Amino acid sequence: MKIISTISDLRRELAAFRSRGERIGLVPTMGALHEGHLTLVRRSLAQTDRTVVSIFVNPKQFGPGEDFARYPRNLKADSELLSASGADIVFAPEVDEMYPAGFSLSVTVAGVSNGMEGARRPGHFTGVATVVTRLFCLVLPDAAFFGEKDGQQLAVIQRLATDLGLPLTIVPVPTVREADGLALSSRNLYLSPGEREKAPHLYRSLLTGAELFAKGCREASEILVAVRASLENEPSFRLDALDLVDLETMEPLTLLDRPAMLAMAAFLGKTRLIDNVRLR
Ligand code: PAJ
Repeated sequence: MKIISTISDLRRELAAFRSRGERIGLVPTMGALHEGHLTLVRRSLAQTDRTVVSIFVNPKQFGPGEDFARYPRNLKADSELLSASGADIVFAPEVDEMYPAGFSLSVTVAGVSNGMEGARRPGHFTGVATVVTRLFCLVLPDAAFFGEKDGQQLAVIQRLATDLGLPLTIVPVPTVREADGLALSSRNLYLSPGEREKAPHLYRSLLTGAELFAKGCREASEILVAVRASLENEPSFRLDALDLVDLETMEPLTLLDRPAMLAMAAFLGKTRLIDNVRLR
């Protein structure tokens, strides 16, 4: 496995792969890798010939007052995990390499970015779409792998890839969870032991909604009321957002007559956890 920090080195390595007709998979990450990320890597290893994992804590997707400065960074541990997993290249550029002086591109995916996380974190999805567009152009992957855990991000990237028209497959990967249901997240590291014990309640509340749906309920309002009531059973959580949206457009639904995503964000202490389930 090669650890590369410059675009010129990356291009040289990729050219060698391409000259042999090898298919390239890209797994974009911000590091602090866990089993969720590694599951994406394994999917890429299984579906392509060469896997590039990018590790870049992207300043453009963090708002003022968000955790950019304290976001966990550990390239050494991440590289060891990736090397053991069989990845071919780790691309870990500095900020100046990704955004050299004068960098002016800004990619906004309208519509699908506007609601939910996009409304609560202004500029977040523009930051994500800008860095992912740049990564797509640098790597020109045949397939790129994204987690369903970040449900709106996945919808934004799917729209982005369609609209860019690149010959690229976006592969969604189901959320990887701890045995108790908590979705794996780099931000779980912020939880105190007491908070960690309570954290799976977020997913259990979402499952309350999924169970109603499975029993035939198609009224969004009924499902939302039940999920909210379930979350309130654990007073340590402070609900930040609860949405039931069209899986593709991320538009709110009143009637569940098409594939949908039930998504929640809640604070546990100072840590903001997000999770979602698909209803179809
Ligand atoms: P990051 O949070 O590091 O996540 C990288 C990828 O791992 C994303 O596609 C995310 O959805 C996926 N992922 C995280 N936790 C997961 C889990 N428990 N199960 C399955 N997949 C999981 O998302 C980002 O970075 C950034 O926004 C990025 C796309 C890299 C752009 O900067």
